[in-house]
Amino acid sequence: MSETAKLTYAGQTYELPIIEGSEGERAVDISRLRADTGLITLDIGYGNTGSCTSTITFMNGEEGILRYRGIPVEQLAEHSSFVETAYLLIHGELPNQKELNRFSILLNDASLVHEDLKIFYSNFPRLSHPMGILSSMVNALRSFYPELQTLEEEIDMTVTRLLSKVRTMAAMSYKMSRGHTVVYPRPDLSYCANFLNMMFDSPVRPYEVDDVLAEALNIFWILHADHEQNCSTSAVRMVGSGRVNLYAAISAGIAALWGPLHGGANQSVVEMLQDIDASGRGFQHYVDRAKDRNDPFRLMGFGHRVYKAYDPRAKIIKAMCDRVLAKLKISDPLLDLAKELEAVALKDAYFIDHNLYPNVDFYSGIILRAMGIPTNMFTVMFAIGRLPGWIAQWKESMDDPNWRLCRPRQIYTGPRETNYVPIEERP
Ligand code: CMC
Repeated sequence: MSETAKLTYAGQTYELPIIEGSEGERAVDISRLRADTGLITLDIGYGNTGSCTSTITFMNGEEGILRYRGIPVEQLAEHSSFVETAYLLIHGELPNQKELNRFSILLNDASLVHEDLKIFYSNFPRLSHPMGILSSMVNALRSFYPELQTLEEEIDMTVTRLLSKVRTMAAMSYKMSRGHTVVYPRPDLSYCANFLNMMFDSPVRPYEVDDVLAEALNIFWILHADHEQNCSTSAVRMVGSGRVNLYAAISAGIAALWGPLHGGANQSVVEMLQDIDASGRGFQHYVDRAKDRNDPFRLMGFGHRVYKAYDPRAKIIKAMCDRVLAKLKISDPLLDLAKELEAVALKDAYFIDHNLYPNVDFYSGIILRAMGIPTNMFTVMFAIGRLPGWIAQWKESMDDPNWRLCRPRQIYTGPRETNYVPIEERP
């Protein structure tokens, strides 16, 4: 018999199967616990709960490891393209040249968006956050692109459309928010160069895509492509488990990513650094506030639920900041501020004891600023990068014969049964 864990409760001993992953991670399978014992497990924030088995991404937070389909993210950042990495995540293996060409052609073919979508954009209030707009627009895509005949065709086309159109829609929303003419995608440009061109080309100032920036964006998106069962990915899987269409599931993922504790942290980091700079109060003041339990302030871009070592993505982005700014001969005072703040925090006993290191969002804003991306679009940039991961995770759940409707339980702590009191009799 394979290994089991024993649980003794109410005088009885139950054997619970142990599940082992390919990297030696172990879990107690409690799927029969309630049926056998009447107990459920309680794990607020799911810090100890595996919601699925998955073959997509491996993370080891203690050692700072991140691999997509077994390949270290450092290798992908150095050698791969975002499109190739997306293929790897979604299809499970690296494409050969023919497969990659076909995938790129499909992405180009799907890159235009329905002209009627522009009307939606122009009706959002001027100060709407781009993440709210993106989430709504992705949900609206189902109405523009109804379900196809076969499930296979539906999945293939929807995946391609999402990967290609979301990028076009993000650039389009930026142009429209400024009241400028929309720039259409160009099939002769790479995925990343195409995005930069749609963002920054204009009839009065033609945009020359800088290879350094296109390469930086490529790496930025590869590093964001998947991160196993985080808040937004779990939202995609959970919403998808009700068998809603993929557009709606991705729209839920975008909404989840928006939060400042998750993908919204990249915007919050830059705002925090600007506040620190403007206040003139010095780093220690902010580090002290972050340590104070009675103060809600946290150092944004620091800490992670899984990483208890330096986030491997942050390491790459930090090095990339230096390289890109040097090549472009730009100096950004926020980069110096970020480095000084990091140095102060990493020497502080609280940060050392709590294993709080910079995460991916700490330095990513600096790169996005160098590209000219406005701060309120930073999280949209994260969302475009995370699309392949969300899609791969959704697809894996749909293909899993054991995948069920996600429906957690709870321990009710409210009032016991009590009678309705008519309003005139209430105190
Ligand atoms: N500044 C100060 N203290 C912190 C921070 C921080 N950034 N992060 C965690 N802590 C402390 C926290 O106060 C708590 O202390 P104690 O145990 O003494 O009460 C302890 O560390 C554990 O914190 P937690 O909130 O229970 O841990 P978590 O695993 O739920 O937190 C986190 C993960 C990302 C929400 C948190 O570290 C945080 O709020 N960081 C700032 C926001 C941020 O940068 N988010 C981006 C995450 S990376 C992008 C992504 O993948 O989504």
